[in-house]
Amino acid sequence: MSIDFDKITLRKNTNSFKWKALDMLYGEKDLYPMWVADMEFEASPAIRNRIRERAEEGVYGYELLSPQYYEAVRYWLDRRHDYPVEKDWILYCSTVMAGLSATLQALTEEGDGVLVNTPVYGNFFGTITGCGRKVTESPLVKKDGLWSFDLEDMERRVTPKTKIFLLCNPHNPVGRVWSRKELSEVMEFCARHRFIVISDEVHYDLIFEGKHTMAALAARPAGVSCATLIAPSKTFNVAGIQTAGMIIEEESLRKQVSQKMKAMSYPFEHAFVEPVTVGGYLESEEWLEELLIYLKGNRDCFVRYVEENLPRLKVEPSQATYLMWVDCQGLGLDDDQLRRFWIEKCRLALSEGTEFGSAGRQYVRFNVACDRKSMLYALAQIRTALKRGN
Ligand SMILES: Cc1ncc(COP(=O)(O)O)c(C=O)c1O
Repeated sequence: MSIDFDKITLRKNTNSFKWKALDMLYGEKDLYPMWVADMEFEASPAIRNRIRERAEEGVYGYELLSPQYYEAVRYWLDRRHDYPVEKDWILYCSTVMAGLSATLQALTEEGDGVLVNTPVYGNFFGTITGCGRKVTESPLVKKDGLWSFDLEDMERRVTPKTKIFLLCNPHNPVGRVWSRKELSEVMEFCARHRFIVISDEVHYDLIFEGKHTMAALAARPAGVSCATLIAPSKTFNVAGIQTAGMIIEEESLRKQVSQKMKAMSYPFEHAFVEPVTVGGYLESEEWLEELLIYLKGNRDCFVRYVEENLPRLKVEPSQATYLMWVDCQGLGLDDDQLRRFWIEKCRLALSEGTEFGSAGRQYVRFNVACDRKSMLYALAQIRTALKRGN
């Protein structure tokens, strides 16, 4: 198989959120979008074939997932992540955030606290507070040049109301692949405080350095209960076909979460959930390997370009995800000026650091899951803007 990731896909006049919402969110239509975390690439041939076949059936009534769906999820978790799971542990949910919402509502009370390390995926905040729970931010710190947990700070922020530790594994936006040792230390901390861990592992297949460890594998020996959120959406670029899953080993917790999901809306599956999951997990591993090579190439090219041409910006190679977390302090602009610089001077739509919590100030996140030429075009725009003087 040889996939042409250099091929330019034209999403501009489609319903793509990344492109269509530019005017609404950035006040301008003609920007190059490198914000929301989906990829500019077509899905794998296997996924597209399966969707085509399902579409040809012509009837799209209520669905019941077949055993093959569960086999696909189990196969993938075992093969790629050394995490053998029972079929019963798997709960389908439409999106990761729906799974997070149901889990929070099922396992905590209104007013309970959720500890989370920031900067972190911005929609966590709205979901936690929308469920009537409280966010407690503990900022990540740089240790030996790597973003790391600050266990002392986390300890200090615990209150009797804190019930959940919400982990982002690997971490969006800083791109850390948490090591087994780091996860074990965090789990010991969670065990001491009797926290339940919710681990969002939606980026778990996009790993460039080290090995991804499912948090549940570190939670188990520490005696910590863990609800793991997974999805094929980031891996195979299928976020538009809403499909995610939750793995909960403990039966009593699983029942509570499942009941809450049913109370929210009986989770019938979209007709393309099975084609995407089976086509992805059982038939697209080779495609994924090629994707990872391309994305790693983009990452390296991005970092090199910044080092050689944009010395006022600082970036380290992400260990995971196609997201680059860029330190903009060298530009000497405040948050509002930064926003205007990216939009007005560089003509780029990026994710502002403040979306990821207060720890994200003076940072910006680039999504580099696009053809390399477009990525370099975006970087050249910054270079030109800086040459002109901002
Ligand atoms: C860490 C993380 N969790 C969840 C999501 C959203 O997943 P979903 O669309 O399945 O709710 C994203 C999307 O960017 C993400 O980065």
